[in-house]
Amino acid sequence: MKITIIGCGNMGLVYARAFLKYDIVKSSDLLLVEKNEVRKEELNKLKIGRVVVPRDPLIGESDVVILAVKPQDFKELVPELRQVLQPKSILLSIMAGVKISKLKEQLNHLNIIRAMPNSPVEIGMGITAYSASEGIELEQMRKVENLLATTGRYVYMEREDMLNAVTALSGSGPAYFFYFVKNLIEAGKQMGLEEAVAAMLVKQTMLGAFHLINNANKSLDNLISTVASKGGTTEAALRTFGEHDVDKYIIAGLLTAEKRAKELSQDS
Ligand SMILES: NC(=O)c1ccc[n+]([C@@H]2O[C@H](COP(=O)([O-])OP(=O)(O)OC[C@H]3O[C@@H](n4cnc5c(N)ncnc54)[C@H](OP(=O)(O)O)[C@@H]3O)[C@@H](O)[C@H]2O)c1
Repeated sequence: MKITIIGCGNMGLVYARAFLKYDIVKSSDLLLVEKNEVRKEELNKLKIGRVVVPRDPLIGESDVVILAVKPQDFKELVPELRQVLQPKSILLSIMAGVKISKLKEQLNHLNIIRAMPNSPVEIGMGITAYSASEGIELEQMRKVENLLATTGRYVYMEREDMLNAVTALSGSGPAYFFYFVKNLIEAGKQMGLEEAVAAMLVKQTMLGAFHLINNANKSLDNLISTVASKGGTTEAALRTFGEHDVDKYIIAGLLTAEKRAKELSQDS
């Protein structure tokens, strides 16, 4: 397989490393396009692919061309990309909010997959939701799924507009989780625990609780009531959450994120 990655910042580099790790591509068949001079220098030193310019005709030989620049940087790439992109290549865009219709129109290209990964892709534990342009062949989707699988799980979205909900839920999700963990640790500190001890208690609790969700064969309500015995400590905390409408605020926060994703997608 021949792959080009355009924009080798955080995400681009994660993909390059993951593809090489799983032998999906040889470094000689991996083209890297990067604007930032410092980054370029780093990429050359890493020797994980061939650093090329966006107008390099070799890009046209790629099975998959990945667009991993910030949405606002896409515009300047259009003229050169239009020149080199060949119809048979699959364009995989991970740019947040940039619609398939816009990519199609600007790049005059048909085979497009738009994906929304999340940050745990960095350690192979991400989840990526994707949508595909009409008429794309199953074999082409499989090719891209094999790439996405090197960074975790993937899920197909029939409706592209659902990627706004995905952005709010799993795209931004790691940050909500970090926020919650941070505040649990803070509570531990306020109760007199050393920060390192509080952090260990919280992190292992999160890990254990996560595995219970997946393996205990119980509903979430059931899992909650197993811990929250009547008149006990957990019930006291949950009552305070309820009195402050914490559940409603969590949902409101996510709906605001979804609204923002929609707005950004209109603007782009
Ligand atoms: N990070 C996430 O968790 C996440 C999750 C889902 C989707 N995404 C999407 O992934 C994309 C990349 O995010 P990121 O966090 O990896 O950003 P990033 O670290 O800023 O990486 C983008 C890289 O592309 C370079 N670049 C800009 N214009 C270019 C051009 N014309 N040609 C070649 N390279 C160019 C940038 O250089 P400069 O630094 O010089 O601008 C930078 O090194 C974004 O569109 C984002 O929406 C990210």
